[in-house]
Amino acid sequence: MTAYLNGQFLPLSEARISPLDRGFLFGDGVYEVIPVYSRFPFRVDEHLRRLQDSLDGVRLPNPHSPAEWKAIIARLIADADFDDQTVYIQITRGADTKRDQCFPKGVPETVFLFTSPLVGPSAEQREKGVAAITAPDLRWARCDLKCVALLPNILTRQLSADAGCAETIMLRDGYLTEGSSTNVFVVRNGIILTPPKDHRILPGITYDVILELAAKHQAPHEIRPVSEAEVRTADELWLTSSTKEVLAVVTLDGQPVGHGDQAGKPGPVTQRMHAWFCAFRESIMRHGHV
Ligand code: PDD
Repeated sequence: MTAYLNGQFLPLSEARISPLDRGFLFGDGVYEVIPVYSRFPFRVDEHLRRLQDSLDGVRLPNPHSPAEWKAIIARLIADADFDDQTVYIQITRGADTKRDQCFPKGVPETVFLFTSPLVGPSAEQREKGVAAITAPDLRWARCDLKCVALLPNILTRQLSADAGCAETIMLRDGYLTEGSSTNVFVVRNGIILTPPKDHRILPGITYDVILELAAKHQAPHEIRPVSEAEVRTADELWLTSSTKEVLAVVTLDGQPVGHGDQAGKPGPVTQRMHAWFCAFRESIMRHGHV
């Protein structure tokens, strides 16, 4: 049983929803993605808090208490036959009897979860880094909410897929925002830079881990707006997310990232951060610590 739908655990292939579900008709819903290592979900409380923020942001009631969510998540994880997983949670404003933009009355939310094997970057991508492109950030003004309406992200991501690249890094009004499904870190003169958590980016759980690791290891870092010019002339660039962890970007719009011998290769700060992250994953995340 790798899925849960409205109170029932069932095989994913048997899960069915109505075509009048507002998630299907309008993209009217929110979601979360929780990484699971050795069957321990990482920072569930933080993911559930971000879920609550997304629900509040779109005026959806939370159908479950944190304890109920944790019980559903625990059962899905226990039933799966793989140890490292990604648990996906989606809540929509339910299935109405008609198509009407206004919130329906007395319609229960649709609650859907499923778990799948955690698939991270390949060994080659980890070692050599990946290519990315830039594109204008076409999204709305509440990118801090994890909404299922991902069409702008999808169109933006497809640009990089069409170019054979692993991610699209978005720019808005001359400043870095984030990747289509990742947060972005820039290294300049040995200093790690990343934009602040505001309405322009998703407050990544991995983003927090990276800043905690930087503080713990006394790696200089600044949280501040990062200009397009600073991205384009960066010494190093990397992406973070629950599934990508720390992934070096070695070319941007076809140009090598970095300077001199380092150009086009994962740089020293990125490599160090990746090593710190791996140590954290093995010693903390795999043992159910936070
Ligand atoms: N994406 N920014 C965006 C737009 C994202 O969609 C994500 C996560 C992140 C990183 O957040 P976190 O570190 O909490 O995973 C940043 C998930 C993995 C997804 O949509 O599949």
